[in-house]
Amino acid sequence: MRLVILVLCVLVLFSCAGAYDPLDPTGNITIKWDVMSWTADGYVATVTMYNFQMFRHIVYPGWTLGWTWAKKEVIWSAVGSQTTEQGDCSKFKGNIPHCCKKTPIVVDLLPGVPYNQQFTNCCKGGVVSAWGQDPSQAISSFQLSVGQAGTSNKTVKLPKNFTLLAPGPGYTCGPAKIVPSTSFLTPDKRRKTQALMTWNVTCTYSQFLARKNPSCCVSLSSFYNDTITPCPSCACGCQNRKNCVKSESKIVSMVGIHTPKKDNEPLLQCTHHMCPIRVHWHVKQNYKDYWRVKIAITNFNYRMNYSLWALAIQHPNLNNVTQVFSFDYKPLVPYESINDTGMFFGMKYFNDLLMEAGPSGNVQSEVLLQKNMDTFTFKQGWAFPHKVYFNGDECMLPPPDTYPFLPNSAPPSILTFPPFIFSMLFFLAIWFIES
Ligand SMILES: *[C@@H]1O[C@H](CO)[C@@H](O)[C@H](O)[C@H]1NC(C)=O
Ligand SMILES: *[C@@H]1O[C@H](CO)[C@@H](O)[C@H](O)[C@H]1NC(C)=O
Ligand SMILES: *[C@@H]1O[C@H](CO)[C@@H](O)[C@H](O)[C@H]1NC(C)=O
Ligand SMILES: *[C@@H]1O[C@H](CO)[C@@H](O)[C@H](O)[C@H]1NC(C)=O
Ligand SMILES: *[C@@H]1O[C@H](CO)[C@@H](O)[C@H](O)[C@H]1NC(C)=O
Ligand SMILES: *[C@@H]1O[C@H](CO)[C@@H](O)[C@H](O)[C@H]1NC(C)=O
Ligand SMILES: *[C@@H]1O[C@H](CO)[C@@H](O)[C@H](O)[C@H]1NC(C)=O
Ligand SMILES: *[C@@H]1O[C@H](CO)[C@@H](O)[C@H](O)[C@H]1NC(C)=O
Repeated sequence: MRLVILVLCVLVLFSCAGAYDPLDPTGNITIKWDVMSWTADGYVATVTMYNFQMFRHIVYPGWTLGWTWAKKEVIWSAVGSQTTEQGDCSKFKGNIPHCCKKTPIVVDLLPGVPYNQQFTNCCKGGVVSAWGQDPSQAISSFQLSVGQAGTSNKTVKLPKNFTLLAPGPGYTCGPAKIVPSTSFLTPDKRRKTQALMTWNVTCTYSQFLARKNPSCCVSLSSFYNDTITPCPSCACGCQNRKNCVKSESKIVSMVGIHTPKKDNEPLLQCTHHMCPIRVHWHVKQNYKDYWRVKIAITNFNYRMNYSLWALAIQHPNLNNVTQVFSFDYKPLVPYESINDTGMFFGMKYFNDLLMEAGPSGNVQSEVLLQKNMDTFTFKQGWAFPHKVYFNGDECMLPPPDTYPFLPNSAPPSILTFPPFIFSMLFFLAIWFIES
């Protein structure tokens, strides 16, 4: 069995080198260009970005999309987006393009721009929901009018070298590929039209590329043992320890603290783990047929309100979630036969905003699970989660031999602990690929 898993792991890892996420194996951001009409010197394209990731949002300050033109293309105009720089358009007289750069960088417009600059699914400041949370909000689109380009599907050259910040690094985009043209249904659904030409670009996320350290950690406790297992020390790196805030009262007198920095550099409350986010899992109660877990998320960053936060958790008993109090819950079934993963997110207008660090900087929920008598146990750390992700980034768990354990039972041994085995395999495989 172990061998089969190992072989599977390695195979899967090889097929999607590095950017593979076991809880969301097909997760990607797809950017689709539909050529809607040919013009005298180019084409008009609708560009649509689909965030197909189940639990990774594109958060404030939003996405930034770049590419390299294959020829000497220019952007005559953009609707529902803009390029960050115009570039050198001095060769043009009369009509001046919106952008003449060889490598345009496009961003979404902010909400509230005039109607004539808007486009369907635009103007959200580049903030895009995760597919698992709200597919209707997981789309962003805009229109470009491209000049000095091919004017037929034989002469048009696809843009190259796509780059995506969403909002930070971590995404790698593949080459644009011509795909069957998209068909559109007219609003009355009685007529189908189709794009003149369509190409897709797929971008995938890798936490290894995004950041050196994790950005969240997990602490654990239980009703059957007084020990609280804290987050590992320096779980998120201790480089910024000298800049952290030691006492709450100091914050009140600090000026400009509530303005996020351009680089999203956090201002953290001092903790031994130095993580912006801590997820606490408390095994709260044991009933005959059910058991109850309390989940709390705490924000330690004074510079960040997390809107649209999402938690993805893997635990073998999530196939029998009976009730989730005060969070929304949705099972994720990445592999058809295994239903052990789910996402939790805030309820609209109630706790979908995780406030900046301080007295309101936390959200919590309780989960009632039905025991499956064949597998349920409080032994061997079974009651604790195998994987925890906050906003799409994996959180660091404490080492298994420090988990609170049942009196009179042995602690989970490192070598028999499934999550540990999995991480070991994962890191081994990564190491194997990269060497
Ligand atoms: C991107 O995600 C979609 C939706 O999950 C999936 O159908 C598609 O195959 C994925 N594309 C790649 C290249 O992984
Ligand atoms: C280009 O357009 C012609 C018709 O105008 C069509 O027959 C052909 O399949 C198209 N080629 C591509 C690559 O879309
Ligand atoms: C692709 O884009 C990146 C960043 O914009 C740049 O560093 C790199 O040189 C580009 N590669 C090619 C082949 O244009
Ligand atoms: C291209 O992207 C669109 C939208 O994401 C998707 O529906 C379509 O299946 C993709 N085509 C291919 C060949 O991946
Ligand atoms: C978070 O939201 C509150 C209330 O809307 C606001 O007062 C505060 O300035 C915000 N903080 C940050 C860091 O954006
Ligand atoms: C997965 O588990 C949830 C309960 O958490 C259940 O509602 C859902 O039907 C299950 N799905 C599958 C495919 O077994
Ligand atoms: C949920 O628990 C009940 C009771 O043990 C069990 O019969 C059922 O098979 C479980 N459901 C799943 C999907 O495991
Ligand atoms: C609680 O768990 C800790 C390990 O995390 C262990 O050292 C301690 O002995 C346990 N307490 C009891 C009463 O078993």
